[in-house]
Amino acid sequence: MDTGLVPLNELKEQSIERINAVQSQEDLNIIEKELFGRKSGFITLHMHSLRTLADSERRSRGGEINSIKSELENAIKSRRSFLEKKQMDSLSEEDLLDTTMNLPEEGHGHLHLIPEFISKVEEVFGRMGFDVAYGPEIETDEYNFDLLNFPKGHAARDMQDTFWVGDKDGEERVLRTHTSPVQIRYAKEHKPPFRMICPGKVYRKDADATHSPMFHQFEGMMIGKDISLKHLKGVMVTAMKELLSPDLDFRFRAGFFPFTEPSLEMDIKWQGDLSKSREGQWLEVAGCGMTHPNVLQNVGIDPDEWQGFAFGFGIERLLMIKHQIPNIRLFYLGDLRFLRQF
Ligand code: DAH
Repeated sequence: MDTGLVPLNELKEQSIERINAVQSQEDLNIIEKELFGRKSGFITLHMHSLRTLADSERRSRGGEINSIKSELENAIKSRRSFLEKKQMDSLSEEDLLDTTMNLPEEGHGHLHLIPEFISKVEEVFGRMGFDVAYGPEIETDEYNFDLLNFPKGHAARDMQDTFWVGDKDGEERVLRTHTSPVQIRYAKEHKPPFRMICPGKVYRKDADATHSPMFHQFEGMMIGKDISLKHLKGVMVTAMKELLSPDLDFRFRAGFFPFTEPSLEMDIKWQGDLSKSREGQWLEVAGCGMTHPNVLQNVGIDPDEWQGFAFGFGIERLLMIKHQIPNIRLFYLGDLRFLRQF
């Protein structure tokens, strides 16, 4: 009986040819739908046409359709796995890298001690309610100096041997000399009370055993009501005891920074065998103080209503004390004999 359909054998031959020539999974899916689609797939229609046949004929015709159906299904299946393999082979090694894969137990890598320390800092201050913020490493003169109450042309700007990197839109740009401009960025965007820390890279023209042209700092700021030096000292000492050692030897000295008044410096004592030549000497690790009213005004906070403190720690210096590392350059040389010790 003529069903108006493409005859089975012809359908089979044409389809197998198309399946074997198809170049993408999407085109293969289209062919599959044309053949087996629930309403109008060619094979489906052939199946439906069985209804009109007499019993005996239906059985033999049904068998024929079924065997062609499974031949076509197999052809689709094998073309699909061929296309999948081809796609996998064309992926670059990078695409195949499984970053969730567990590394082997032995000889596995680990974070460099600086980012590792930064995450500890974030955790310890996080427990004391401090938010974490980041800022740009290329700063404007305004954020690196002006808004922090450095007077224009004042000698205080020379305290930090700045890398000037030219101007953009008529404004001078610097590689930030400290993380303090992030205080300004954060305080402009948040209403007090708040507590925040901001770790990151800073840059200065400076190089010797304890100075490097690029190094890391983390800044902290806490603004609230009735905040005093007592809170500043409590927060800094608690964090240092946690990050370095519970029986740490420290002292605070009077210092000068344009953005704090009064200003202090925190020193910690070197200890341990590896730094024999420095044993018993103090190393300056942080500047700090009560935020200057001019700075609060610069960020739109009323200094009569709010007070606060800020501090900036040198990360490498803390690690030098913690692990008795005698020279700051060891952090950046990438020497595995050094890196594997931590
Ligand atoms: N930014 C200063 C520096 O790099 C350190 C510092 C001092 C940060 C006092 C502060 C602060 O937040 O209050 O030398």
